[in-house]
Amino acid sequence: MIVGILGGGQLARMLALAGHPLGLKFITLEPAKDACSAAVAEQLLGAYDDESKLSELADKADVVTFEFENVPADSVTLLSSKIPCYPPANALAITQDRLNEKKIFNQLNIPTAPYRAVDTLDDLKQAMEKLGTAAILKTRREGYDGKGQARLESAADITTAWQTIAGKPAIVEGLVPFDREFSIIAVRSRTGETACYPLTENSHKRGILHSSLVRTDDPLQALAEQYINKLLNEMSYVGVLALELFQVGDQLFANEFAPRVHNSGHWTQDGAVCCQFENHLRAVCGLPLGSTRPLGHIAMLNLIGELPNINPILSLPDAHLHLYDKTARSGRKIGHINLCCKDKQQLEQQLNALQSLL
Ligand SMILES: Nc1ncnc2c1ncn2[C@@H]1O[C@H](COP(=O)(O)OP(=O)(O)O)[C@@H](O)[C@H]1O
Ligand SMILES: [Mg+2]
Repeated sequence: MIVGILGGGQLARMLALAGHPLGLKFITLEPAKDACSAAVAEQLLGAYDDESKLSELADKADVVTFEFENVPADSVTLLSSKIPCYPPANALAITQDRLNEKKIFNQLNIPTAPYRAVDTLDDLKQAMEKLGTAAILKTRREGYDGKGQARLESAADITTAWQTIAGKPAIVEGLVPFDREFSIIAVRSRTGETACYPLTENSHKRGILHSSLVRTDDPLQALAEQYINKLLNEMSYVGVLALELFQVGDQLFANEFAPRVHNSGHWTQDGAVCCQFENHLRAVCGLPLGSTRPLGHIAMLNLIGELPNINPILSLPDAHLHLYDKTARSGRKIGHINLCCKDKQQLEQQLNALQSLL
């Protein structure tokens, strides 16, 4: 079976790496000449909205998926008219607009931060009065890794925040005083079976995911599963879905979702029976899902901006290095390290050692 992927970055690369043992082959559509998936997948060089390339992809592949949420929803709709295409185009369209994303959470009774739609400076002024707290202004479209966002401590920051996002259609949301940030990753098959990985606690630096700690048996697991299952079923979803959550006491507030494999799920490569990449492929190819059971005490650290000396990392007994074959550049994710240990103490020791190496 040949899987087509829109996008040829590290997520496509890791999908292909997980899919080769299943006998799958891969072809990507990607405009970048130095795409890091090219080592493991055939590449069609072209834009995501190039109709002739999309047709070629549909001709060559048996099923199509995508590796990031800013591919044009129209391209996915077009592909869907020709060949099976998962996750569904509607999930992509919802997540491409933060306002629609918040609306679906609310419609499903999944709590979120209070928010208001903002189209003009005046809307922002009124919204800040209504919210009455510190807030974050976010463009409705195309934000990622903290881009397209501005924080407002008070009404005094309104003009600067508006300029920061260049007056684009936006939402402003009240700042959630969260105790921890979590994500949950789940997968739904073509026939509607679902499976969830354990909650992952995430920490960010300058808006970019820095590290993830797996929280097996967290008391909030059941609530997080309830929320993500509602989303999966509502959207008749197929594939891996990630839901970002804020924890406040015993409550969870949904922040956003990603209709794809997710950075906070990279630990599953070494720390789960079946990783998120393989499970995504199993789902989109109509195969039975694999077990999401964790295999120990697990953490993931991102390598961002520069490549450290890898020998001391590889000398740690339970470290697994994953490099993306991307040129190092400030703020760019170039790899990650998974630690999968048999007990908590070993994880803490090696995590400390790793942090001092990076
Ligand atoms: N309403 C909020 N309250 C508190 N922190 C927030 C809120 N919205 C976003 N953040 C912080 O900013 C980070 C990035 O915001 P997010 O909406 O996830 O955008 P991105 O698409 O860039 O990941 C979040 O992971 C969280 O740390
Ligand atoms: Mg996010």
